[in-house]
Amino acid sequence: MDLTIGPRLSPAGGIAITGIDLAQPLTIAARDRIGTALCDHHIVVFPGQALSREQQYAFTAQFGEVERHGGHRAESKRREIAHVTANLDADGHPTDRVAAGANYRWHTDKPYYPTPPLLTTLHAVELPPAGGDTEFANTVLAYDALPPETKRRIAGLRVVFQWEAGRRNAGYYAAALPPVDHPLVRTHPETGRKALYLGNHARHVFGLPEAEGAALLDELLRHATQPHFVYVHRWRVGDLVMWDNRCLLHRAVANYEMTRYRRIMHRNVVRGTVPV
Ligand SMILES: [Fe+2]
Repeated sequence: MDLTIGPRLSPAGGIAITGIDLAQPLTIAARDRIGTALCDHHIVVFPGQALSREQQYAFTAQFGEVERHGGHRAESKRREIAHVTANLDADGHPTDRVAAGANYRWHTDKPYYPTPPLLTTLHAVELPPAGGDTEFANTVLAYDALPPETKRRIAGLRVVFQWEAGRRNAGYYAAALPPVDHPLVRTHPETGRKALYLGNHARHVFGLPEAEGAALLDELLRHATQPHFVYVHRWRVGDLVMWDNRCLLHRAVANYEMTRYRRIMHRNVVRGTVPV
């Protein structure tokens, strides 16, 4: 069966790709078509995949250098496999992760690094019977829709991101990483489109009084996450979703009984370039 691209999943982004088994190596043509779909639609959904963690890693690695999980911590040798993310306690029982999870706040993956990830792949392994969605907000559309005076006001501003900030917002302590700053309006290196770059790990705006910068970020985040900029992904087991961190915010939605049902996902991220 041949690879089929479409249908589009929402006006805010997302496209389905079928007729392909991601456990097999991609042809150059297939890889290029997927890369183009990602640039055009930001979120690519591959339904019905059955990938081991090693196979997911191998698929993701065809799009660039896969980052090790927890690269900011002391790192022992890790096998090259996808990272497990799940609502489980140490005994494997389902548990409520909202208080501890920065994932439930709008964010882009790992913006607190000088070189944040280009894309993420997430594979649904075990899901609650309903809910456990992921929402994606299109920050290219959000930037385009800003009034001209706001675009002028934010041009050239830089956002200070820090890992600790995300954790502090989520209510528990973790050791801080040094802050990094990135453009608030970044230009997508492949499409040339401008996108807002902000979210949960954004602390304030470089050069502005801290409260003023935080208020500006709040205002822009409210703007960017309005429903008409958002695609809601309702997962099915076997979905592999690939998304572009350079022009999206995302968050997990706690719309299921977390203490009753397990939600197990496997994740990889591909290293990007320094935002400009
Ligand atoms: Fe995330």
